[in-house]
Amino acid sequence: MNYRKIKGTRDILPEEFKQREFIYRKARDLFESFGFLPIITPVFEMTELFVRSIGEASDIVQKEMYTFSDRSGRSLTLRPEGTAPVVRAYLENNLKDWRNPAKLYYILPMYRYERPQKGRLREFWQIGVEVFGAPGPDVDSEIIFLMVEFFKRLGLSNFVTEINTIGCRECRPVYLKALKGYIAGHIDRFCENCRQRYLTNPLRVFDCKQESCNLLLDEAPLITDHVCDKCRMHFEGVKSYLDKLSINFTVNKRLVRGLDYYEKTTFEVKSPLLGAQSAIGGGGRYDPLIEECGGSPTHGLGFAIGVERLLLQLEEEKLLPEVKTGIDVYIVSYKGFQDKAFEIANMLRLAGFKTEFDYLGRSMKTQFRQADKLEAKIALIIAPEEDAKGAVRLRNMASGEEELVKVEDLLQKIKKKII
Ligand code: HAM
Repeated sequence: MNYRKIKGTRDILPEEFKQREFIYRKARDLFESFGFLPIITPVFEMTELFVRSIGEASDIVQKEMYTFSDRSGRSLTLRPEGTAPVVRAYLENNLKDWRNPAKLYYILPMYRYERPQKGRLREFWQIGVEVFGAPGPDVDSEIIFLMVEFFKRLGLSNFVTEINTIGCRECRPVYLKALKGYIAGHIDRFCENCRQRYLTNPLRVFDCKQESCNLLLDEAPLITDHVCDKCRMHFEGVKSYLDKLSINFTVNKRLVRGLDYYEKTTFEVKSPLLGAQSAIGGGGRYDPLIEECGGSPTHGLGFAIGVERLLLQLEEEKLLPEVKTGIDVYIVSYKGFQDKAFEIANMLRLAGFKTEFDYLGRSMKTQFRQADKLEAKIALIIAPEEDAKGAVRLRNMASGEEELVKVEDLLQKIKKKII
C-alpha cells in the first residue's frame, strides 16, 4: 500500500459511524429541549481570529495550529476549537437580532497539532454549545447541568465535575502580580516550561504535569481565593444553583483551562478511567471575547465535549451502543435470474427494506454464505420452478423455515416477517 493516513487522524468505519450517530442524536435531542439550535462554521478561518481569542501565549496558538497560506497569500487556520468561530458567526450574522439570548450547538471536527496518544488526536470531534447574552450564574449552572445530564443519559457514571472561578479583567491582574511574585521567589526550582509561562502566561503554571512544580504550587496563592466581590458572588451563585439542580461537583482551585478567553466560571468533566487525557469535556464563561472580536459587550459561555474521549469512556464503562449493520433481505438467485433479482431488489429497496443481491454471478452456496455474512433476516430465493408460478421462496435465516410467496404479496409478507 502506498498511502497511509496522517498521524493523529482516524478513519471512522461504518460501525463507529453508527455509534457516533447514536451519540449525536442523543445530544441533539437533549440540547434542543434546552433551546439550542445547530450551527456549522467553516473548517478554516482567518488565523488572526484564533490568535486573538485563544491567546497569543496559549499552547494552541504557540504550537498546535494548522496554519497555512492560501493561494492569495492570506493566513488561514484549520479550526482548533469551536468557540471563536461561533462568536465570529454570531457577530457576522447579527444573531443577537435573531434571538437574545442566542443558544447554539455544534458537532464538528477540530484540528490541533498535538502529540498523538490515547484520547489525543490531531483531528478530533467536539460536541459543543455556546450561549450569548446571558449574564447570570443560573446559566453557568444550566450548561454544566446540560453537560452532566448528557453524560448521564448515555449511562455514564464514572466521572467527576470540577468547577472554579478564574476572576475577571479587574481582579485577575492583581492576583497575577501576587502569583508572579510567588513564582519569582522560587524561580530556579520551577521547570523550564513554567519559567516560560511565568513570563508569558503565569496562570498556566497550574497545568504543569511535573510533580516538583506541583509541590511548589501547594503554597502558591490561588485565583479562587483572590477574586473580586463580583466574581465571588457569581461563583457562589453558580454553586448554589448546582446544589439546587443536585449536581455533584468539586471546586478545583487549580482548574485554569488552556484557552485565554475565559473569565469567572471554568469547569471540566474528568474521568478516572481515561489516564493522562482525562478531560471528557470542558468550558466556561468568556464575557470579554465578543467585544474583543469587534462586537458590543455581550456575555458568552459554553462547553465542548471530545467525542473520541467520550467513546473511550463509553467503552470503559461497557456502554458503547450496540449498532445494527445487518440487512433485511438477501436475494439468492439461480443462474440466469439476475435481472429478476435486480427488479425485485429495486422494488424492496424503494419500499424501504435493506436489500442486497449478488452482482458477481456467484454460486447459490456462496450467495447463501453472503446472506449470512450480511446478517440478512430473510433470504429471498428466485428459482426456475417458483418463477414459473410467479412466486419466490422466503427463508427465515434464523429458523431455516421456508415458504412460497407470490411476487405481488411480497411487500406485505416481508413487512410482517421483518417487524
Ligand atoms: P478544550 O478544553 O480545549 O475546550 O476542549 C474541549 C474538549 O475537547 C476536551 O475536554 C477534550 O475532551 C477534547 N479535546 C481537546 N483536544 C483534543 C485532542 N487533541 N484530541 C481529542 N480530544 C480533544 C475548548 O475547545 C473550548 N472551545 C470549549 C468551550 C466552548 N468553552 C466555551 N465554549
